[in-house]
Amino acid sequence: MSHSKLNRALAGSVALAALLAFSAAAGAAETKTHAPDAGKDGGTTNTYVPQLDNMPAEVAPKPEDAFQLTADELAEGKKIFFERCAGCHGVLRKGATGPNLEPERTHELGMDHVKAFITYGSPAGMPNWGTSGELTETQVDIMARYVMNDPPQPPEWGMDKMKESWEVLVKPEDRPTKQMNKLPLDDLFAVTLRDAGEVALINGKTHKIEQIVPTGYAVHISRMSASGRYVYTIGRDGRIDMIDLWPAEPTKVASIKIGLEARSVETSKMKGWEDKLAIAGAYWPPQYVIMDGATLEPQKIVSTRGMLYDEQTFHPEPRVASILASHYNPEFIVNVKETGKVILVDYSDLKNLKTVEIEAERFLHDGGLDSTGRYFLVAANARNTIAVIDTKDRNLAALVEVGTTPHPGRGANFVHPKFGPVWATSHLGDETISMIGTDPEGHPDHAWKVVDTISGQGGGSLFIKTHPNSKNLWVDTPLNSDAELYQSVAVFDTQDFSKGYEVLPIAEWADLGEGAKRVVQPEYNKAGDEVWFSVWNGKEQKSAIVVVDDKTRTLKQVIKDDRLITPTGKFNTYNTQHDVY
Ligand code: HEC
Repeated sequence: MSHSKLNRALAGSVALAALLAFSAAAGAAETKTHAPDAGKDGGTTNTYVPQLDNMPAEVAPKPEDAFQLTADELAEGKKIFFERCAGCHGVLRKGATGPNLEPERTHELGMDHVKAFITYGSPAGMPNWGTSGELTETQVDIMARYVMNDPPQPPEWGMDKMKESWEVLVKPEDRPTKQMNKLPLDDLFAVTLRDAGEVALINGKTHKIEQIVPTGYAVHISRMSASGRYVYTIGRDGRIDMIDLWPAEPTKVASIKIGLEARSVETSKMKGWEDKLAIAGAYWPPQYVIMDGATLEPQKIVSTRGMLYDEQTFHPEPRVASILASHYNPEFIVNVKETGKVILVDYSDLKNLKTVEIEAERFLHDGGLDSTGRYFLVAANARNTIAVIDTKDRNLAALVEVGTTPHPGRGANFVHPKFGPVWATSHLGDETISMIGTDPEGHPDHAWKVVDTISGQGGGSLFIKTHPNSKNLWVDTPLNSDAELYQSVAVFDTQDFSKGYEVLPIAEWADLGEGAKRVVQPEYNKAGDEVWFSVWNGKEQKSAIVVVDDKTRTLKQVIKDDRLITPTGKFNTYNTQHDVY
């Protein structure tokens, strides 16, 4: 085949790569020893030669005129999709919490349907982008056309890119050897200031903002090192920032970007491994990376692309959802969303990496430990299931069917008056709260079964929370499309569910004026006698944190400050470090 013929047969970058490979192979063929097809006869020294006849040409997408976007619109659509939609629908739009939005499907749904969904949302967990004012009518129109076209594929992000982005701002040897400030390091709240790209450190005792630390965009979570000295934050943009709490003022000491879109970070917690390693999981590219715990220097990157656990067909974008450190083994528990696999990654020997791959369920999202710390309960939200992983024996303990699209955060552990120790989750897709028995020894009949189901205010719940010192169970509904629901929170008495729930108008208490004012994520202080809520408003509007007295369920304080821009997740240092929830 002549080169010009080849050029016509193939198009685009695939063709170029194939062409280069072909030329190299042709060159090699002349040297006799490396015949291109030696492999067919069992030869072992030949290089891989693509079978050009079988390689499909890259088909250029055919944009339908009606759905065309200008270059500016495409750029805006890409940005909005990446920041606002990919979390639920996937970068390649194959679907996760939200359904598949590839052109094949969206064309079938039609423009009117798609636009209506983006504008009004749905009680099953799709936010109302239009009516909430978060997207303008023009932006809704751009997004509707955007999802009618093929999703652009973002670039890879390997060791070279990670190293380029990696910075050690204060070297370990230049850091203090003891705490140089008077902050209650075991009772700080690391608060995500979502749209500001910052984390606020708020004093759990005085409610004073001690420090604002610049971080990645829309920090998803903050995690503590095992010793409680360092806070690791991960932005949705894949940026990890490591904050040292010991200097006179808490200071960022290292930073790295581990991907283009990410959600999870965790540190080694096994005895003897405290603060030694960190791990982060990316949505894009689909991979996890193990880093030095003191500097964030990347050590090992592992791709999660592979087969769905059940169908055993290939998925190009199996995103890493939550990651948790085991207390029983030197292992990280890595939850891979699309393939439905839980990977136990043994970090004691990175050169000879041992992993256990547990078939769980799709699409794994977030979860938490039971009260003993042995079992990890993780939501497989598309299958309305909670998978239970035994972190001690390193296997699947159970799959438990719950309500529609469970979203537990880390869940809530308490002792049910009738069924003993339970772990509870709320749901994005319905108003129920499911309680699962977690005591296979003391209450074997109830273990890994839904023992009780109660109804909260509505769907669109993201977080549920209690504390060992409290009898209250708090359930938020920030993604419900009804303002009365997303601006308030429901609270139950864990010792008497027959009383139903009380509704606290948290947003009204914050008295902020204009805006959506979504009430999100209850988080306890160390003592368990206060529960904090974010009142999450638009970037240009006023937000706040509302502190509620847990015992009396009354307002204790509204933390208002111009620096509190779009607060969302809050992580109490002690409760996060010790997995208290
Ligand atoms: C919090 C998760 C979440 C986010 C963020 C989200 N969606 Fe959705 N989306 C959903 C869910 C869940 C559904 C299905 C709702 C239902 O079936 O009622 C959905 C449905 C849709 C549908 C209708 C599809 C169908 O099958 O009917 C479209 C279109 C859509 N989303 C577009 C978007 C766009 C565009 C964005 C970003 C601006 C976005 N979504 C952000 C969760 C989300």
